[in-house]
Order: sequence, then C-alpha cells, then structure tokens
Amino acid sequence: MSSTAITNIATLVTNDPSLGDTSPLGKVRDAAVVIDGDRIVWTGESSKAPATDNRVDAGGRAVLPGFVDSHSHLVFAGDRTEEFNARMSGRPYSAGGIRTTVAATRAATDGELEANLTRFLAEALRQGTTTFETKSGYGLTVQDEARALRVAAAHTDEVTYLGAHIVAPEYAEDPAGYVALVTGEMLDACAPHARWIDVFCEKGAFDGDQARAILTAGKAKGLHPRVHANQLSYGPGVQLAVELDAASADHCTHLTDADVDALAQGSTVATLLPGAEFSTRAEWPDARRLLDAGVTVALSTDCNPGSSFTSSVPFCVALAVRDMGMTPDEAVWSATAGGAAALRRTDIGRLTPGARADLTLLDAPSHVHLAYRPGVPLVSGVWRSGVRVV
Ligand code: NIG
Ligand code: FE
Repeated sequence: MSSTAITNIATLVTNDPSLGDTSPLGKVRDAAVVIDGDRIVWTGESSKAPATDNRVDAGGRAVLPGFVDSHSHLVFAGDRTEEFNARMSGRPYSAGGIRTTVAATRAATDGELEANLTRFLAEALRQGTTTFETKSGYGLTVQDEARALRVAAAHTDEVTYLGAHIVAPEYAEDPAGYVALVTGEMLDACAPHARWIDVFCEKGAFDGDQARAILTAGKAKGLHPRVHANQLSYGPGVQLAVELDAASADHCTHLTDADVDALAQGSTVATLLPGAEFSTRAEWPDARRLLDAGVTVALSTDCNPGSSFTSSVPFCVALAVRDMGMTPDEAVWSATAGGAAALRRTDIGRLTPGARADLTLLDAPSHVHLAYRPGVPLVSGVWRSGVRVV
C-alpha cells in the first residue's frame, strides 16, 4: 500500500467537530490529509503533515468528503422530455408519469439498462459523488424488479427494492393483488439483491396502510425501510417512517408540526430532494424549519427521468442554500455526512482517520463556492477508496 498526502488545502471539511474549528463541518485551514490504501489516516495542518510516498499540492483549493447521494432512481430506460415540456407549460406533475418509464424499462435489454446506469454514474462521479444509493421501481413485475436490482447491485451496496413505486398497470383494478405480489413473490425474488425497501406513500401510489404492510413485510425479510413521504401532499408517510425506524423519510415537502416533531424525536433522517421541486415547479421543502427543530437533514438528487433529471449534488446544494433556508455549511454537511446518516453509514461522509478515502477537490478556496458559483463545474479532482478517479 502506498501513502499520499494532499497538502496546501485552503479549507478542509472533515465533518468532525473535534477537528479544526469545532463547527459541525470541522473545518481545518491550511490543511493536509493523508491517505493510506483506501483509508484516511491523518488530517491536520499542512505544515505538520507526516512523510508519505506521494504528495499532491492542492494549490490553495478546498477538499471535502465525496458527496453521498442517498436517493436516486438510475435503473431505467427512455426519456420524458415531452412530460417535462408540458409541465413547464403549466401541466402539473403526477405519480402517473412513472408508467411511461415502466414501459420503456421493461422493453430495454439488460445491456441497455447497464449502459444507462454507468453513464449516469460517470456523470455523478465527475460532480463529486463517491457513494450513491439507487432503486428499482420501473419494472413492477417479479422479473423486471429483480433484474433492476441485479443491475444496480453490480455498482453499489446501497440498493433499494421499490416494487411499490406505483401499482403496476396490470393490477390497475386490483391494487390489493399488487400489494400481495410486492410483499410475496416479488419480495422473495428481490430481497437477496437489496439492502433497503422503499414505498411511494402518496395519493395515486400507496396509502398508509398499504405502505405499512409493504415495509413490514420487507423488514421481516431483513430489508431496512426508507420511505418516499409527503412529497406531493400531506399524508401519513413521515410518521410511518419514524414509527418503523426507517433510515430516511425522503422529500418531506408537505409537513405538519406533528410530522416535524416525530422526525425530531426519532432517528429517521429527513432527506430533501430539491431537484424534484425545481423540475416539477413545486414549493420548496422548508429545511430551516427541520433544522431548527433538531432534525437530521440529508440532501440528495433523486435523479430520475420524471421528477428530477439531475445527477448533480452541487446543483442541489445551491438550490438548498438559495431557496430552502440552509446555510452553505449546513447544505454541504447534509450532502456528505447527512447522506451517510440516511444510509446509516459511519465510514463515509467524513474525512477523519479510519474513514474511507472518498474526497472531492474543488477548484475554489472553500466549499461555500458550491452555492456562491451555481452551475459552475468546480469539482477538479475526486478520490474514491483512495484512488484518484477524476
Ligand atoms: O422520487 N416520487 C416518486 N418517485 C420519483 C419520481 C419518479 C418518476 O416520476 O418517474 C421521485 O420523485
Ligand atoms: Fe425518489
């Protein structure tokens, strides 16, 4: 194994308050970080960096943990440009658009799904994402859901079974029959390929009772829950997520005070997905309200062809700062440590000794530039598991 020191870092974000400036970001100025193999082994002031085999001079730029995108839907085929176009001419977004992608995904070959996924992953990596979660949900048959999970599992450990995205078209007149499939034969075929189970708890998708039955069945098979909750309207999703100790309640756009209280008291992370509100021209989730209540907040892309066709975490950080009441520090924490918390991981999302060496080098002196310079490709280097990949 060889060691590498990245020195002359103007701002190093460690996400460890015991290091650096004691803020949640644990910022160290004029810093260095040392990688040995796939791990971080040292962080501190650049002038005190230990001797290493290799040195990289950061040239006064910023280094932060690689982004942890804890919510995406990347196994799909087809495109929904027309739907987006119609929406930007005034048509509302609805869960039903998912059916368009289901038809295209079922018709695609394994090779086409794989090629699409790897294209999006390369795109995300160039923008600093070193860990991503992704879901099934555009197959909605036993074979197509299991296939989506197999394709995803070849690229990430964070794979989510979302057979309950919407009721499959074949079961339009028999939603109970579809729930039985999702909790029975489909779950049996999918559980070996997934870590998580998710359900779209929303009008037009699955109600609270159906969602509870689906998540409970998944738990019994060893899958851990996460929930698409309170995206398009108020509903039971968030409180169900907390009740079932879901790792994350995702979207959280329409929240009552009781929903916020439940999140503040439980250990479920609120994952906010501003790309979805941007691309559906919807009202923003109120990150400030959640943070002030003490809720742990993650920020992710929700990358999917319908409601949020962006793989860019920096774009989401900029939106969260500009429109959701987050400070730049909070948004960067949520896109790194917050994403890790939403995946119940402690080995990523921070740059402290023992953590996985996933780092992003920005072409800027600080992480604040992610919001200050929106839309600019600032990521100039990425290391994943200690290997420079960008
Ligand atoms: O997270 N809300 C449910 N699922 C996706 C949208 C999927 C689609 O429109 O294709 C989301 O926004
Ligand atoms: Fe989603």
